[in-house]
Amino acid sequence: MDSDVQIGLEDVSYSFGKGALEKQILFDIGTQIKGGEIIILTGPSGSGKTTLLTLIGALRSAQKGSVKVLGQELLNAKEKVLIQVRRKIGYIFQSHNLLDSLTIHQNVQMALQLGGVKNRDGKERIATVLQRVGLAEHEHKYPRELSGGQKQRAGIARALVNRPQIVLADEPTASLDKQSGRDVVELIQDLAREDGSAVIMVTHDSRILDVADRILHLEDGHMKSLSEVVSEGTSRMLNLLEKHDPNAANYLATFSFALARIAYADGEVTDTERDEMRRILNEVAKLEPAEVEFIMEMSMMQKRAKSRIDNRIKNPTLDTEHAEHFLNSLYAIAQADGKATSEELVEIEAIAAEFGLSSTYGQADIASGDPKPGP
Ligand SMILES: Nc1ncnc2c1ncn2[C@@H]1O[C@H](COP(=O)(O)OP(=O)(O)OP(=O)(O)O)[C@@H](O)[C@H]1O
Ligand SMILES: [Mg+2]
Repeated sequence: MDSDVQIGLEDVSYSFGKGALEKQILFDIGTQIKGGEIIILTGPSGSGKTTLLTLIGALRSAQKGSVKVLGQELLNAKEKVLIQVRRKIGYIFQSHNLLDSLTIHQNVQMALQLGGVKNRDGKERIATVLQRVGLAEHEHKYPRELSGGQKQRAGIARALVNRPQIVLADEPTASLDKQSGRDVVELIQDLAREDGSAVIMVTHDSRILDVADRILHLEDGHMKSLSEVVSEGTSRMLNLLEKHDPNAANYLATFSFALARIAYADGEVTDTERDEMRRILNEVAKLEPAEVEFIMEMSMMQKRAKSRIDNRIKNPTLDTEHAEHFLNSLYAIAQADGKATSEELVEIEAIAAEFGLSSTYGQADIASGDPKPGP
């Protein structure tokens, strides 16, 4: 195993129950996760996400395959080994799981003691971690005196105070409103990056998928590849859109994919480029933020998976006004992070050629970066 790999799963299967009542929940799961990587685990209710998390967390044992965590094989491992591994993992649950009769400070302190740190060395560690999650002023309050988001932050402080090499979070934002959910996830992301911990986070919230380095998807206990998920999701979206308005669907799919191609042309998509894509999609199609996010994810992943949007889609013929807007938008993405790179310009030329457009359209307007709305 690569020394960087913190979690290695091979052909992992898991069943609940025995004999006639046996029900297989996970089938031949395999993946490797490195230190510092942030993985988001998605999938419908009952697909086996929590079960997989508890196998990695040494909270139950798989019956088949190999589960290597921090260099230890957990399959058929002794309880002593499981306990050792558990100490190096930080768990964050849907509900914060704080003890109501203890203050925030005492809750975190208890986790520290379970991790084997002496009281004397603990004070500073607790102060630091509460500072990091923004609860320094609340350390002597009881959980009932805090908001939902603050309690979840305290749960994170408790999970991270031992500086775990692995963080497992099961729907950490489920009980939070949109903004506190986002804050909590970004906090986990920052802390994990600082400490170089591997993070696996289960979520149903598609708005936070962008914090992931990699998205794993479970369906009925099977791990699905990104391209499978993307092509299914894309055809579903296009079918929906087509029923609604076939022309708009065609334009939107082609347009958003073209934006993603430009943003990806130089190998990475910056936050500024993403924001610019959001802005354009929102203006062009008058979509709700959630729809914009969905299309962003779809077109980005489509590009990432390097597969062309469905063959059924033919490039629409654009009139002058739309052609100009189309190209302006591509330039706006290319320029969003300051300057259009040569790779981005080449990609614009290529797309323009595919649409039979002259790529000089709209170049005069680049500076304004303000495309007119499309159809
Ligand atoms: N202790 C148990 N005994 C028997 N079956 C169980 C047990 N825990 C979970 N299951 C079953 O295993 C399957 C997967 O459950 P799991 O909790 O892993 O799903 P999940 O993907 O986390 O779902 P959710 O998104 O609803 O949390 C479900 O069919 C569930 O009913
Ligand atoms: Mg679950």
